[in-house]
Amino acid sequence: MKNEELKNRDLDVLWHPCTQMKDHEKLPLTPIKKGYGVYLEDFEGNKFIDAISSWWVNLFGHVNPYISSKVKEQLDTLEHVIIAGFTQEPIIRLSERLVKLTPKNLDKCFYADNGSSAVEVALKMSFHAHKNDGKSKSIFVSLKNSYHGETIGALSVGDVELYKDTYEPLLLKTLQTPVPKDMSKDAAKVAAKEFEILCKNRADEISAIILEPLVQGAGYMHMYHPLFLILVREICNNYDIHFIADEVMVGFGRTGKLFAMEHADVSPDFLVLSKGITGGYLPLSVVLTSNDIYAKFYCDYNEHKAFLHSHSYTGNALACSAANATLDIFENENIIEKNEEIAKYMYKKLQKFTNLKNVASIRQQGMIAVVELQGYDAKQRIGLKIHKYCLDNGVLIRPLSHVVYFMPPYIITASEIDKMMDTTYEAINSLL
Ligand SMILES: Cc1ncc(COP(=O)(O)O)c(C=O)c1O
Repeated sequence: MKNEELKNRDLDVLWHPCTQMKDHEKLPLTPIKKGYGVYLEDFEGNKFIDAISSWWVNLFGHVNPYISSKVKEQLDTLEHVIIAGFTQEPIIRLSERLVKLTPKNLDKCFYADNGSSAVEVALKMSFHAHKNDGKSKSIFVSLKNSYHGETIGALSVGDVELYKDTYEPLLLKTLQTPVPKDMSKDAAKVAAKEFEILCKNRADEISAIILEPLVQGAGYMHMYHPLFLILVREICNNYDIHFIADEVMVGFGRTGKLFAMEHADVSPDFLVLSKGITGGYLPLSVVLTSNDIYAKFYCDYNEHKAFLHSHSYTGNALACSAANATLDIFENENIIEKNEEIAKYMYKKLQKFTNLKNVASIRQQGMIAVVELQGYDAKQRIGLKIHKYCLDNGVLIRPLSHVVYFMPPYIITASEIDKMMDTTYEAINSLL
């Protein structure tokens, strides 16, 4: 009964994100009472495996005892303080650790509170750094099929039509360069060549390239080879263009290393992090950059040279304590090595999907496993059908149109993987 009551009360007063609300006439909302481990539970005792880590944020399960205890400790000490002119211990400790853990030459941390805002910070900082050098470079390049968030700047560098087209008249002028078409080295070289041609022609205007290293999340989980990152780095160096790595989705172990840029062993000029940073507890994001970039803003007071960007909740102390607890777990529990085993098991299970006639291909990068379907058009909304089938059978899967993916919390067990992937297999099979 409680489920029903909450659904009705919700629809009276809420407008949900990324949702055609009329869909809820047929697809009921799922009120969640509690979470534990990989599970979410509704008010009637139905359990769902959170196979998408609640929009890719939850790394170590819901109501993780360790993270909860650290946030509770912080709650009794300091919940929040303005970060202009003041500081606190959790944010200093977190920044020291991030500087150590991220690729080299990333020395300073600038905080915001969600992925899109952090993308805005990186874009503005890049433009402003060039400006402080006396250059006017106002164009950003991004990859075709990319996604960087929903605020106007972030949407402008994105390239997924579904989110972008409607707002086109409002957006910044940006350029898109091809993403490598598959995971091969050859594809990486071909795409890098295209970027180089663009730079040759327009380097004077281009401030930065922003990209999602290795996996384009909302861009249907498209994957490419790390060689592309190495080549982009070289081209950026040659043409005085910044490299912004948006690791909002791929950061914190998702791709098999702590940060996706490690696969290529190159450093970006700006690294954007959010989502998993707090283990899925609280909103937080950060942009890391080099001492060189920082130095361009460092001078006697001049309102045009300082980076006068702020958000009220920047560097919230509770969020920083959750982030420190998340890093503790990475450190103390060999998560990256453990994930290798989990990823191997998912890879084994993934093979079975190729037996299905409606499966075009499978792919995987670390803790992201993907099944791409074929033979359907967007109007059929098969993603929604798979979502519903899985939900009715205890698994939360949220396909991107015809692309079904698994991105579970890192604490998932083999039997939970069985349940997650077998149920999804049945869902895809039921479409035939
Ligand atoms: C790569 C990437 N960048 C930025 C964002 C935006 O983050 P947020 O939803 O926290 O604004 C997302 C969100 O999915 C993302 O996947």
